[in-house]
Amino acid sequence: MTGLFITFEGGDGSGKSTQASLLAEWLEASGRTVERSREPGGTELGLELREIVLHRRGHIAPRAEALIYAADRAHNIATKVRPAIERGEIVIQDRYLDSSVAYQGAGRVLDPIEVRDISIWATEGFLPHLTILLDLDETIGRERLDAARTKYDRLEAEKSDFHSRVRAGFLALATAEPERFLVLAATDPITSIAADIRARVTGLL
Ligand code: TYD
Repeated sequence: MTGLFITFEGGDGSGKSTQASLLAEWLEASGRTVERSREPGGTELGLELREIVLHRRGHIAPRAEALIYAADRAHNIATKVRPAIERGEIVIQDRYLDSSVAYQGAGRVLDPIEVRDISIWATEGFLPHLTILLDLDETIGRERLDAARTKYDRLEAEKSDFHSRVRAGFLALATAEPERFLVLAATDPITSIAADIRARVTGLL
């Protein structure tokens, strides 16, 4: 069986983890071996990097932030994701390089192409077979987050116009690579989003 690398992208509060879990359960029920991962923090080293990049107090220079995400990614792909895919497994991951392009590129001040190139170098050009973008108006994402928690990480604490640039950044990425992306409205019912995802994944199995 050939391995598959499927990533979920979207703003905070778009329901990525819920949909990733539903897809994993469905694939496992059909007999496939599924590995779940996330960035930042898919590995032990990654958890330390996640703590720095999301919760460290004080300023982190934009290029340093981009490199920390890229370091987490390099290690995650080299030690966890690529070996699993080579064993023929399916890796379902919350966030990948598109998050860097959208958050550090479109959202912050860095050149999105340079940000992408760093991740391409970090992962030796490892791209997902499918990326599911759960598109959500940033004000709705914010309401969902407000309902779910009282503490925000460094990115979540950014203002609404930052999150609207992030959203536009994701949509531009999806337009540029329509064969890799499936864009779904995150406000659709959970079951109908899950069905749309299964339909697309079925075509890849
Ligand atoms: P995530 O783990 O999805 O957040 P949570 O578990 O708290 O819902 O992502 C953490 C934050 O990291 C999120 O706000 C987006 C940001 N991020 C980047 O800025 N660049 C990246 O490359 C990645 C992977 C995430």
